[in-house]
Amino acid sequence: MYALVTGADHGVGLSLAAQLAQRGYYVTACRYDEKETAIDELAAAYPGQMQVITLDIGSDESVREMARKVLESTPCLDLLINDAGILGDMTKTVGDDLNYDEMLSVINVNALGTLRVTNALSEHVCRSTQKLIVNISSEAGSIQDCWREGWFGYCMSKAANNMQAAIVQNALRSRGVCVLQIHPGHVATYMRGHLDTTASITAEESAAGILRVALDLPHAPSQIPVFLDYEGKELNY
Ligand SMILES: NC(=O)c1ccc[n+]([C@@H]2O[C@H](COP(=O)([O-])OP(=O)(O)OC[C@H]3O[C@@H](n4cnc5c(N)ncnc54)[C@H](OP(=O)(O)O)[C@@H]3O)[C@@H](O)[C@H]2O)c1
Repeated sequence: MYALVTGADHGVGLSLAAQLAQRGYYVTACRYDEKETAIDELAAAYPGQMQVITLDIGSDESVREMARKVLESTPCLDLLINDAGILGDMTKTVGDDLNYDEMLSVINVNALGTLRVTNALSEHVCRSTQKLIVNISSEAGSIQDCWREGWFGYCMSKAANNMQAAIVQNALRSRGVCVLQIHPGHVATYMRGHLDTTASITAEESAAGILRVALDLPHAPSQIPVFLDYEGKELNY
């Protein structure tokens, strides 16, 4: 079985790559920053079972190059996990001097970046047995349960991520592809630029939950992608 994880430099993505290798998958781990070497150490621990590719999901060219390498090196893709994401400003609210360029860059990564990767690899997913696409979304993308007064770029980008997933599911349902939107929980990672000590779970716990929900529970392609948290609880769009 073949899997690919984006954002595998550290955090949830690195843990997902590690646990997929433990589960016996051949893992393509996509890293953003070549200076982040934890994934190289992981790949060394699983010789012949993992390849590391540098990827910027915000760039058409980088995604094209990644897809070329993946198509060359693997016969298909059973599981595509779009984990890579960025946070952006968390402080500004209505009436402040909002930075729209920064919001565009968050949307370019979190929403368009996910679609770029899925679009480049969709045929490879269709060639597989499992045909599963998992997008690491966020409760912050829920419009119905929105409570924040800021985080514009992040929340809008995750809501857009949810929408692109619905369209992908519509387009690929007849080919047996199943798309899942998963909120990973409040995870202790460096996404805020420092270790988030207010978080409730570790990256390892989050990844274990995500894989349990995605791989150990039964899923069929649904009308709209199921939006679940890492414990399998359904969230509102
Ligand atoms: N942590 C939470 O509480 C939480 C809650 C809800 C949802 N999420 C979501 O969970 C996912 C993983 O986040 P995390 O908490 O594990 O944070 P993280 O450790 O910062 O992981 C994000 C990963 O994405 C990579 N990345 C950033 N920009 C990229 C780009 N343009 N192209 C490709 N990769 C890029 C990062 O690389 P570098 O760091 O090396 O730049 C990093 O490896 C994200 O989608 C996030 O939105 C997290």
